[in-house]
Amino acid sequence: MPAGGFVAGDGQKAYPGKLTPFVLFTCVVAAMGGLIFGYDIGISGGVTSMPSFLRRFFPSVYRKQQEDATTNQYCQYDSPKLTLFTSSLYLAALISSLVASTVTRKFGRRLSMLFGGILFCAGALINGFAKHVWMLIVGRILLGFGIGFANQVCQVDIIIFLLLLLSVYNNSVPLYLSEMAPYKYRGALNIGFQLSITIGILVAEVLNYFFAKIKGGWGWRLSLGGAVVPALIITLGSLVLPDTPNSMIERGQHEKAKTKLRRIRGVDDVSQEFDDLVAASKESQSIEHPWTNLLRRKYRPHLTMAIMIPFFQQLTGINVIMFYAPVLFNTIGFTTDASLMSAVVTGSVNVAATLVSIYGVDKWGRRFLFLEGGTQMLICQAVVAACIGAKFGVDGTPGELPKWYAIVVVTFICIYVAGFAWSWGPLGWLVPSEIFPLEIRSAAQSITVSVNMIFTFIIAQIFLTMLCHLKFGLFLVFAFFVVVMSIFVYIFLPETKGIPIEEMGQVWRSHWYWSRFVEDGEYGNGLQMGKSSNQGTKHV
Ligand code: BGC
Repeated sequence: MPAGGFVAGDGQKAYPGKLTPFVLFTCVVAAMGGLIFGYDIGISGGVTSMPSFLRRFFPSVYRKQQEDATTNQYCQYDSPKLTLFTSSLYLAALISSLVASTVTRKFGRRLSMLFGGILFCAGALINGFAKHVWMLIVGRILLGFGIGFANQVCQVDIIIFLLLLLSVYNNSVPLYLSEMAPYKYRGALNIGFQLSITIGILVAEVLNYFFAKIKGGWGWRLSLGGAVVPALIITLGSLVLPDTPNSMIERGQHEKAKTKLRRIRGVDDVSQEFDDLVAASKESQSIEHPWTNLLRRKYRPHLTMAIMIPFFQQLTGINVIMFYAPVLFNTIGFTTDASLMSAVVTGSVNVAATLVSIYGVDKWGRRFLFLEGGTQMLICQAVVAACIGAKFGVDGTPGELPKWYAIVVVTFICIYVAGFAWSWGPLGWLVPSEIFPLEIRSAAQSITVSVNMIFTFIIAQIFLTMLCHLKFGLFLVFAFFVVVMSIFVYIFLPETKGIPIEEMGQVWRSHWYWSRFVEDGEYGNGLQMGKSSNQGTKHV
């Protein structure tokens, strides 16, 4: 392994380079990837609560909601077709994220991004100009396909951007990012992408609020079509931005990659970083059977976490709020305007609490945040269930919420969102990314993404039907899962804060339960980038 770079103040490796316009522009485009993902999460609930949109596409729901005063409040929005409008995106995202990494490897990240951008543009336009329900669904499916591709590329760039802000220059293949980041800031850097998602959700909620006021009731077209702005930036960005050196190296174009690296870094001497990139690429290509590896006994803890962490993240019930906050607020008696405004409030709390997580994750640790966030969510779910139950009972008798009652409900939903946004939200992605050794990383990461998308889809699809049947008890179902996941974290999840990736094996070896699977000398494979890089730095 070549010795490369120089040792930065914290003992981590840094490469020479300048903050070139290329890097800055890449970051703007990357931020768009998170933004558009968030935008699509936040936009559908708002338009669903706009009467003009409902009247046009879902007249039966509209009638129940507006005209039939005797309707059970809990069941106003119970329509599988309506929820398919939100949920279909996640099935498409699941499928495309399964193929995106292969496409990126074969054709380079530039084409992947272009492809993602075009799908986004098409999806946003079809949605914005929709005349029939099928156009809404097809549009959402195209957006979902786009997400698989764009995420693959953008998630990486945004972390690189944050690394640059820390003056630690880095440019590595996607899956190495957690390892290459200085471990003291690993958590904070990783949460950067989550932050751009939460900003996207908030932008969608603010736009919904204003577009709903447009006279003539066509504001929803602007809401849905608005996604075309970040989509165009991604598309044009992919045309203007050259391919990255990593991507060229992966496809054997070494000389071209070196020239490109010089341009990107703005310095002539890039040989150390280049050698490291080549070595990293060789190491990752030498792994032949990541799926079979994952099934080996010593990777049982990793496999368990790859499945359970995203499963639990979705079972917090967060997307009930992210997707359906305006619908939920409407259901409990808010006007359209108040519902959309309340969604803006919860969206703002989501962004602010993510910033708290960035600040605290490497200070207070993952376990503390998981357990604190879980307790907070649990209390709020119980209070919200009690408030809604007390007002609407089990038969959902329609009625207005007194103002103070509404304020209590929104306040507790905000405290719940804050609890999620500094715990399971970002950590649901961060913890898996830092515990998988290279030998299993691609397979384990695919499992995490797939499990997340499957359960996002399921929650999006069945929430409104569950609300109709379980009533306020639905919040208690999620509360139950929050108890289970907190116990799971307490018993089974070791702390990973401040532990260099190459030493991660130690956390399992010293764990009371997982140690029986990971025996001394068994863990690790000498293939970990973090390990080789750090060895490299010692020789400098
Ligand atoms: C979750 C999404 C959720 C978002 C809310 C993410 O970590 O994966 O499902 O909508 O957080 O901010």
